[in-house]
Amino acid sequence: MTVIYHGSDLPDDDRRPLLYGGDLFVFTPRPSTLELIRHAREMIEETFGEDPTRAQFGMPVEKFVQLGGPLKPAFIHHPRTKELIRDVVADLGCALEETYLDVPRLRLATSHGYLTAGVGYAFHPHRDTWYSAPMAQLNWWIPIYDFGPDAGMAFHPRYMHEPIRNGSAGFNYYRWNADGRKNAAQHIKADTRVQPKPEQEIELDPQIRIMGKAGSVLIFSAAHLHSTVPNTSGATRFSIDFRTVNLADIKNRVGARNLDSHCTGTSLRDFMRGTDLQRMPEEIVAMYDDGSASGGITVFTPEVHKMKDKAA
Ligand SMILES: [Fe+2]
Repeated sequence: MTVIYHGSDLPDDDRRPLLYGGDLFVFTPRPSTLELIRHAREMIEETFGEDPTRAQFGMPVEKFVQLGGPLKPAFIHHPRTKELIRDVVADLGCALEETYLDVPRLRLATSHGYLTAGVGYAFHPHRDTWYSAPMAQLNWWIPIYDFGPDAGMAFHPRYMHEPIRNGSAGFNYYRWNADGRKNAAQHIKADTRVQPKPEQEIELDPQIRIMGKAGSVLIFSAAHLHSTVPNTSGATRFSIDFRTVNLADIKNRVGARNLDSHCTGTSLRDFMRGTDLQRMPEEIVAMYDDGSASGGITVFTPEVHKMKDKAA
């Protein structure tokens, strides 16, 4: 059973166990999220003009990638973005002292297969935990413009309780940081990055699609099997997502049940404390580390690659 809590005022300590069990939490737009999307829209519209959801129809895909490529890191690293995300998390009842966040992502899903690789990658069914996310990770998803059910995200709830044969055993987070992510903008027609995928037939239906207005919030466990709905809406969908973990849960190894994730490395070093953006303490990371860091990069930053490129 998957319960969808709408506008719940349960405290975070009571909400997290439900999320780990596969329930979903949805909230209608509120001042903190509206402020966040106002900021995102400003940056998007500076890049794509005043009707960004239709910009794809007025330019070749190469141009779209050229514009969209720099927009994503600019949004991620904008100091105002981090502040606004923090406000959203606090507004929805998380104690910032205990809650660690990673940097937010800006996603764009173009319509009718215009761009499905690299910066516009349409995610096949996956659990984030196949990508070295901790089992206690929660994902937050916020649409920046109104969108339709043919442009969002789908959950495949059966698999919250059922293991899937998958390729996560071949995934190492540090290698991914070193090779996979920096090349996103180079993938225009096809995406050749190695990603953990199901290795069996997946029953995509029954599936759940949550429809919210721009500025609504959806929270779900990183262990949920989810996918990008192939966008046939006639408009590019723009959304923000980010991840949180609660320190006590990480320390106590509380989280979703691990049914089938066999990846190595951990993304825990990406998380920063809500109060002061201090990184996750190394002794906590060590609890989850498996010694697979050699030869890879433990934390992805564009600067590391600039240095590497210069050195090369
Ligand atoms: Fe995901």
